[in-house]
Amino acid sequence: MFEVRHLKGRTYYFEAFTNVGIYRLDSKRVVLIDSCDHKRMAKAVNNYLKSENLTVDTIINTHCHVDHICGNKDFYEKYGCRILSTEKEKPFIAQPDLEGTFYFAGIDTDKTRNPFFMVEPSVIDTLTEENLPEGLGIIKLPGHGFDMIGVRTPDDVVFVADSILSEKTWTEFKVPFFHDVNKSIETLKMLKEIKAELFVPSHNEPLEDIRALAGLNISKLEELKEAVYGLCNGVGFDEMFTAFLNQLSLKIRTEKYVSYSVMLKNILQALVEDERIKALIEDNKFLYFRK
Ligand SMILES: [Fe+2]
Repeated sequence: MFEVRHLKGRTYYFEAFTNVGIYRLDSKRVVLIDSCDHKRMAKAVNNYLKSENLTVDTIINTHCHVDHICGNKDFYEKYGCRILSTEKEKPFIAQPDLEGTFYFAGIDTDKTRNPFFMVEPSVIDTLTEENLPEGLGIIKLPGHGFDMIGVRTPDDVVFVADSILSEKTWTEFKVPFFHDVNKSIETLKMLKEIKAELFVPSHNEPLEDIRALAGLNISKLEELKEAVYGLCNGVGFDEMFTAFLNQLSLKIRTEKYVSYSVMLKNILQALVEDERIKALIEDNKFLYFRK
């Protein structure tokens, strides 16, 4: 079911819920782009590497989200590989519970079952031009994460991480997570312009032409902004949150409460940056208005 597929030249990927890029530096060593959404998946990647007599030289984590870093510790312990990411993503990969604490403060969550608190810490360095594996290029993809990156291999294959989500993801989740909505839209516009032989999103099959899917992602984000703009009629956050969920026919559980409420705040932030809404405090109530 889960298997490694050849893309082009020395570039491969492990097809799973979160795809993992595999670039063969030479006949013995590979670079992994992200390290799986589950330890079980990391084991499957490891079995492949073993069967091909390959070792992991470096893992590049595109960003800190838990479904991209679950195999870090196991690969590190097995191969002593370097693990690299950007300066802003690094602390949350070194100590994943920081992100959990950031988002789940005041939320009644079971830390023994919540992935944010279950992922193991990683020994990680900042990615620089000096330690970037030879031949690979980095593409800045601001928006979805704190400082997410993509990777271009010498075979002209670009791994675009979570900058672009599948149509299925949008249908299932309706409000997927983007840390900075306006920067995400800018990144998607940039992706429509860049050239490559193949693009590999983390949660979609590889694409020769990314423009239509980038366009769909832009439209979906703009639709969410308009929906929230329409709700800014002098209401506070809690009232708006319930109206937002009802409008999109969404039901919440604890984890969904966190991702939807944080995303609603991120959309409000985008509208503030656009100078389309303003927030006023009246009688100790924090209220949102259209300008
Ligand atoms: Fe992500």
